[in-house]
Amino acid sequence: MSENEIASLQARHTIQCWSSQSGYSPISVKSASGCWIHTHDGRRIFDLRSAHECVNLGFNHPKVIAALKRQMDEVIYVTDDFATEPTARLSQKLAELTPGSSAKKVYYSQSGAAAVEAAIKAARLYQYNRVFGEQGTVDAPGQYPYPYKVISRYQSWHGATAGAASASGDPRRWFQEPLTVPGVVFAPDANPYRPHFSSLDQHLAYLDHMIEQEGGRNKVAAFLLEAIVGSNGIIVPPDGYLEGIRDLCDRWDLVMIVDETMTGMGRTGKWLAIEHWDVVPDIIVMGKALGAYCPLAATILSEKIAGSFDHRLFGHGQSYSGHALACAGALAGIDVLLSDGVLEHARVTGINLGEKLKALGDRFPCVGDVRGLGLFWTMELVKPGSQKPLRRATEKYEETIVKKVSDYLFHERNVYVPSDKFGLWVVPPLIVTDDEIDFLMDALEGALHFAESLL
Ligand SMILES: Cc1ncc(COP(=O)(O)O)c(C=O)c1O
Repeated sequence: MSENEIASLQARHTIQCWSSQSGYSPISVKSASGCWIHTHDGRRIFDLRSAHECVNLGFNHPKVIAALKRQMDEVIYVTDDFATEPTARLSQKLAELTPGSSAKKVYYSQSGAAAVEAAIKAARLYQYNRVFGEQGTVDAPGQYPYPYKVISRYQSWHGATAGAASASGDPRRWFQEPLTVPGVVFAPDANPYRPHFSSLDQHLAYLDHMIEQEGGRNKVAAFLLEAIVGSNGIIVPPDGYLEGIRDLCDRWDLVMIVDETMTGMGRTGKWLAIEHWDVVPDIIVMGKALGAYCPLAATILSEKIAGSFDHRLFGHGQSYSGHALACAGALAGIDVLLSDGVLEHARVTGINLGEKLKALGDRFPCVGDVRGLGLFWTMELVKPGSQKPLRRATEKYEETIVKKVSDYLFHERNVYVPSDKFGLWVVPPLIVTDDEIDFLMDALEGALHFAESLL
């Protein structure tokens, strides 16, 4: 099949995510390795979004590929009535590597959205068990009310399925309306660049008030949040914020669910983003890069939450849970990350990259804010001299300068950065070299000159 036939065949019968389909024109790929995608028409393109943060170790890492091949010769998938070494060992690893007691348990699914849904369901069932104890029916929550509300935030994205989209503040939630899943309440964002409150104390006091007004421990089940907001603009919260949320959850008996789908697996220079603060969540969600080339997501329940299901039904499940091949990929990926120095490389390279990006941003009035951690950065683009974003959340993305800048990088600089809605993301694979950073900085400088020429 020729390269053009592959591309047009894919376009004819495949739906592209979040797009109107008539413009879908995929580019035929010959191979991908490290940070680069090699196309059939001879281009070599740097993936500055790490395949939507799924490929943290770069494409086709030989150790992960070898582990996957080995596993394929043994067993790829059996149901959880059977045990496989990769699934058993990965659960142990996740229980040990995540903050808090290692007596945790992991529920596996294949997407971040599914893992978030499992987390919300686990939190609500935990609350049912907490409230009704021995009087609860064992097989199904037969009595009502029990705490069910989930607090999320406007600047958040937890996935496209009905429950996860309903619990996301991102305007993509609107595609679900009016059939959103009830019981979600949105809290104000914690964005140091655009704060809603004049102090952190005020912010936390408002959240306390909000929880009380929503019915407190009798009505509210969980607080769901990304440790560092991803899709809604890479927003690092102020120090003390996540600790404050933990305190509120303790005070009101809420389950703290931290969604690390995008920020886990070393993306922010630590194994999990939450480790930048001294906070132990009740449930941690992982996905994307966890599977190391296979779809795999994990809902990691603390001892307290998992224990709630010792003698009561965990009323949730799906096909392919605990997929042995995907777990083998994840184990190999974690090994490369932690034992081959990739995490440390990401931490150090991230500090240098952040300094370079800030220095570059200072030279361009259209760069309002440069923020991030590890290898997770964005340059927010604004109208010069103001904090007005170059694109409003409600504006059609295709017609924005932000999109034009992303197109410039792709066509003129061979840098693929399916752009963030508000700025330029700088999210390279964690194995990025210093030479590649220099290449990227040059491309980004060109992109900012281009942006200014459009203003
Ligand atoms: C924080 C977060 N949670 C959940 C999801 C949903 O993951 P998936 O697309 O694998 O369903 C995403 C996707 O971008 C995400 O960034």
